[in-house]
Amino acid sequence: MDLIEQVRLNIKDTLKFLTDRIAGGADIGIILGSGLGGLVDSVERPKVFAYNEIPHFPQSTTVGHAGNLVIGTIADKKVAIMQGRFHYYEGYTSTGVSFPVRVLGSLGVRTLIVTCAAGSLRPDLKAGDIMAITDHVNLMGVNPLIGPNDDEVGPRFVDMSEAYDRGLLKIAEDSAKGEGVDLKEGVYVALTGPTYETPAEVRFLSTISDAVGMSTVPEVIMANYLGMRVLGLAVITNTPEAKHKLSHDEVLVEAQKSSEKLIKLIISILQKV
Ligand code: HPA
Repeated sequence: MDLIEQVRLNIKDTLKFLTDRIAGGADIGIILGSGLGGLVDSVERPKVFAYNEIPHFPQSTTVGHAGNLVIGTIADKKVAIMQGRFHYYEGYTSTGVSFPVRVLGSLGVRTLIVTCAAGSLRPDLKAGDIMAITDHVNLMGVNPLIGPNDDEVGPRFVDMSEAYDRGLLKIAEDSAKGEGVDLKEGVYVALTGPTYETPAEVRFLSTISDAVGMSTVPEVIMANYLGMRVLGLAVITNTPEAKHKLSHDEVLVEAQKSSEKLIKLIISILQKV
């Protein structure tokens, strides 16, 4: 069996497992990054699936990533939430990392909200800020669409001129105003990690972007391939000026501190989409 056929069968299997257990599909997908999983407490009538019970789903190995797919409603919108994501640095392929986005697409998701923790590369972006992602730079050296293309799923060559939907960005800006959140905007650059950046890398990256992280881009590429509208929200957890060494614990603590603000913002956005 060729790869295209194999992936089709896997998706069919995964979809059957989920649709046998939920009523209908979902319209909006949400991916929650490090320390940002709290939104699932706002889901009404949630159906919770641990990643390790879902056929063909990768398993999350990172501390701070719960590893559940939660399907239900928020603000009367049918949502499918990934509480915890997969990273390239865990050893998955870029395609593997974005497999869940294909599953979300087959569940009916046409709008994807992606969240992540990120390091600041711009002086006015401080720990605790939320930055709406206006565009990205993929410096991971890989792309989830490398390999044979299934023309029934998406095009071989994918336009990325509006990878982050302007309409959703406007809704996020309006929601932030309404909620009193000082929403920043900027370009996200993705590296593989798991190392954080050297000072020389920070200097280099700050000339091409505003915030740096180790995720988001593979999922956003897959979402664009599938024709979804994407909104990206990065929580700034650290700045290069900090005079101490950076740790994952610090990133988690800072992300958790901003979690409430992010949840408020996402719920307000969901009311408007
Ligand atoms: N670099 C890369 N990824 C991150 C950072 C960072 O400084 N902070 C949170 N995720």
